[in-house]
Amino acid sequence: MVTENDIKDALKAVKYPGYSRDIVSFGLVKEISANNGAVSVLMQLTASNPQAAQQIKSESERALKALPGVNAVHIEVKQQAGAQVSTPQSPWAQQNQVPGIRRIVAVASGKGGVGKSTLSVNLACGLQHLGAQVGLLDCDIYGPSIPLMMGLHERPTISAEEKMVPPSNYGVKLMSMGFLLEGDQPVIWRGPMIMKTIQQFFSAVEWGELDFLLVDLPPGTGDAQLSLCQTVPLDGGVIVTTPQEASLGVVRKGIAMFGKVNVPILGIVENMSYFTAPSGERVEIFGHGGGRAEAERQGIPFLGEVPIFTEIREAGDQGLPIVISAPEKPAGQAFISIAQALQQKLA
Ligand SMILES: Nc1ncnc2c1ncn2[C@@H]1O[C@H](COP(=O)(O)OP(=O)(O)OP(=O)(O)O)[C@@H](O)[C@H]1O
Ligand SMILES: [Mg+2]
Repeated sequence: MVTENDIKDALKAVKYPGYSRDIVSFGLVKEISANNGAVSVLMQLTASNPQAAQQIKSESERALKALPGVNAVHIEVKQQAGAQVSTPQSPWAQQNQVPGIRRIVAVASGKGGVGKSTLSVNLACGLQHLGAQVGLLDCDIYGPSIPLMMGLHERPTISAEEKMVPPSNYGVKLMSMGFLLEGDQPVIWRGPMIMKTIQQFFSAVEWGELDFLLVDLPPGTGDAQLSLCQTVPLDGGVIVTTPQEASLGVVRKGIAMFGKVNVPILGIVENMSYFTAPSGERVEIFGHGGGRAEAERQGIPFLGEVPIFTEIREAGDQGLPIVISAPEKPAGQAFISIAQALQQKLA
């Protein structure tokens, strides 16, 4: 009589298509039963891949039929339910879109201090200014600065359904890591904690209907950012750079990061492009044009540039974004035109 062990051994000869490892060591074989020479095997793939499923099924049938004492073989290969057939191996295969949120866009940079948070805040207010419904998610685990820049000091309230209701200011809803921290206590976030928190920002927050949810990522392109990108179902990423940073190639790291998780890059923004002195003289403190040049080199859209304006920094510190306090002034206009460019990209 053929035993379960015989069947398992025979299935070890079947390789996962494209791999040198066999389907048993991959853990795909979930159930084996044998009765009077009739063998039944249940396998489960972790992704949707009809081609691989078919190949595994037929090779397994062949391997089992060759066993002495086997006269009937039934093999079922289950695939991950709901996964996209057209995007095999996509890290998004298991992600659900968030109901009610039309577009989720991350703002990232190769390194810190280039103005990600300033851009996130003013883009959010800029999109709102253009008539969109906007939410802002501050995922900066190291130094959540957005509540300050948005002039928001309240914390989320809890709804009857026990979900967090994001506070809002200037018509923009905000959730921040900062809301979950006590005072100025430094927090050591461990990977799984970060993942869980970010997931809760989607599953346990009442965002309502949003045209855009902007996500401010922590600086850099390390593991933390990568896993954030994998946790949040992003529609695209915007990369912020200063002119000289671009020439150093830090932007390329940001591009590579989004590439790794299959997130399309919507464009590059050059911040702190130049400074206009009180005399009217234009001073290119960090050089100028590096962002546009890098965008061209990489074949990525250039969304616009934001000069250095003292009032941008002051507005940030006061919690009154420049797009709200002075939408008609050059500083406000710079952000609004980037918001328009972004809106067009995602239309
Ligand atoms: N175009 C600008 N003109 C003047 N000040 C600016 C401009 N952009 C950003 N700043 C100021 O530079 C500082 C750093 O900006 P911001 O906090 O937005 O950078 P960041 O990339 O989010 O930094 P971090 O990496 O620490 O999160 C802030 O004080 C901000 O007000
Ligand atoms: Mg920041």
